[in-house]
Amino acid sequence: MKDFQEKIEKIGVIPVIVIDEAKNAESLAEALVAGGLPCAEITFRTQAAEESIRIMTQKYPEMIVGAGTVLNVEQVERAMNAGARFIVCPGFDSKVVDYCLERKIPVLPGCVTPSEIMQAIACGLKMVKFFPAVQFGGVAMIKALAAPYNEMKFVPTGGVNKENLKEFLSYKAVAACGGSWMVKREWIQNGEFDRIRSLVIEAAKLKGEIRS
Ligand code: 3PG
Repeated sequence: MKDFQEKIEKIGVIPVIVIDEAKNAESLAEALVAGGLPCAEITFRTQAAEESIRIMTQKYPEMIVGAGTVLNVEQVERAMNAGARFIVCPGFDSKVVDYCLERKIPVLPGCVTPSEIMQAIACGLKMVKFFPAVQFGGVAMIKALAAPYNEMKFVPTGGVNKENLKEFLSYKAVAACGGSWMVKREWIQNGEFDRIRSLVIEAAKLKGEIRS
């Protein structure tokens, strides 16, 4: 988990992806890597998620590809069998978290309240997803939560975009940000990979202005 956290902090931005057809996975991975964000959270919201993870990890082994919107242990198993390297959940589910920790699978459960963060701390987690970030109060809320839990790192996701990315990344308790603004579902479907690559380059540049 420590190694994963260091890598995620270095990359700084996790593209959150909803992909409808696995045949687009390779071109998408190429755009992300070429754009400077060799990382992806492939959400388990579509049938194509599992196969897309498999294709991306096979074609681009240097990429850190994880599964998002994971709701149960069965999905964790499917994601890991496909080659996922981390698991992201919208909320905190102790079965999913325990399963991952027992197997040393990096897991980011969604935590937005003091009680949820304390559950995460009790499990030994040092990093959680903060979702949906803007709706739950953005940087101001993360700052308030980080005061008592000053060893916890957050990955705000949900409402993050190129306008507020630097504000989030400037705050020390933010490990990285997740978001879909540079990888819209319909652009993937339409094969607009140049557009995606340009927005990924822009996101990587914004991140680089805050962190080298
Ligand atoms: C999600 O799970 O939908 C992600 O948090 C992405 O949110 P966004 O579309 O607001 O970036």
